[in-house]
Amino acid sequence: MKINSLFIFLLSAGALLICACDPLTVHKVTSTIFDGVPSMPPADQYCRDYHIQATQDELAAALKKKGIKQESTHPPYAEKRCNDCHDKNTDSGFVVPAEALCAHCHKGFPTGDFLHGPAAVGACRKCHSPHSADNPNLLTKPPEELCVACHAEPRTTVSLHSTSQAKGMVCTNCHDPHGGSNRFFLR
Ligand code: HEC
Ligand code: HEC
Ligand code: HEC
Ligand code: HEC
Ligand code: HEC
Repeated sequence: MKINSLFIFLLSAGALLICACDPLTVHKVTSTIFDGVPSMPPADQYCRDYHIQATQDELAAALKKKGIKQESTHPPYAEKRCNDCHDKNTDSGFVVPAEALCAHCHKGFPTGDFLHGPAAVGACRKCHSPHSADNPNLLTKPPEELCVACHAEPRTTVSLHSTSQAKGMVCTNCHDPHGGSNRFFLR
């Protein structure tokens, strides 16, 4: 009896550990346990595992097709708290140097062992507008155009990336744009 419940405890502890990871890591861990060889999941399965996160973007795409914009406005701009950011008396024209402006309020951001280059150096405005935008989340470009502006280089994982693109997924369905605790900031 004791041994039995210990076994069940170990099993569920193991399952918890595996579940805490992204679908790719889960697949690599389980394929290592059962075959001794870590491998990539088939592209189709990978997209299915992530599909739940795609619904948000499908909705956005449907709205866009109908010509309905998903605009967004930055709360401090909407509330006319201009001086929370602008200051005529400083060299930068802002309350703090320009590259520190976003972190002035969005403190401790981003976090994680793996940080995305532009977010890590405070280049938030490569992707976000400070006042308002025609896209959700103050994005300067629609989600499907945002990443390819910089990442034109060919992917090493070609099959996975072309399959997901053909299914209408966008990069941020799988990658966090800021960083995270998984390699390549996988969600
Ligand atoms: C969250 C910080 C923030 C707030 C709040 C904010 N701004 Fe700005 N503003 C910026 C940044 C950053 C730029 C620089 C944009 C650029 O160079 O592309 C800017 C640029 C500007 C410019 C230069 C022209 C332009 O649009 O690029 C004007 C004018 C301006 N802001 C006015 C305002 C006014 C008026 C308010 C209040 C209603 C306001 N801002 C609130 C951050 C802010
Ligand atoms: C004066 C304080 C302040 C500064 C400076 C500031 N923000 Fe914000 N920001 C806020 C607040 C308040 C919110 C709404 C609450 C939240 O999401 O944290 C917000 C929300 C956001 C959102 C979410 C908007 C949405 O539609 O979901 C983004 C993106 C954002 N900020 C980006 C930036 C960027 C980029 C900068 C630098 C140019 C910046 N912020 C500087 C106060 C600030
Ligand atoms: C490479 C593009 C990119 C850069 C650089 C970037 N963001 Fe974002 N950000 C996004 C996208 C895309 C979203 C939409 C939500 C998502 O996909 O996770 C977002 C969402 C947000 C949000 C609202 C939702 C959330 O995750 O809290 C805030 C706040 C935000 N960003 C702040 C920042 C700040 C501050 C910086 C700079 C330190 C920054 N971002 C740099 C792409 C970027
Ligand atoms: C302003 C340019 C820019 C934009 C926009 C941008 N990136 Fe990046 N990205 C970089 C830089 C710079 C690096 C670090 C250099 C490198 O590893 O290639 C990087 C690295 C990465 C990496 C890690 C690559 C590796 O081999 O470690 C991933 C994954 C990534 N970006 C995904 C995205 C996604 C997803 C988006 C859209 C939300 C995006 N990037 C938008 C500039 C950008
Ligand atoms: C279906 C999920 C998914 C989508 C959508 C996706 N990726 Fe990835 N991406 C991954 C996975 C998984 C890896 C890691 C593969 C590995 O471990 O070898 C990866 C790796 C990467 C890398 C680093 C390795 C390489 O191939 O260069 C970059 C950069 C990258 N992705 C960028 C992007 C960009 C840009 C987009 C949008 C055009 C995108 N990804 C869309 C899942 C995805």
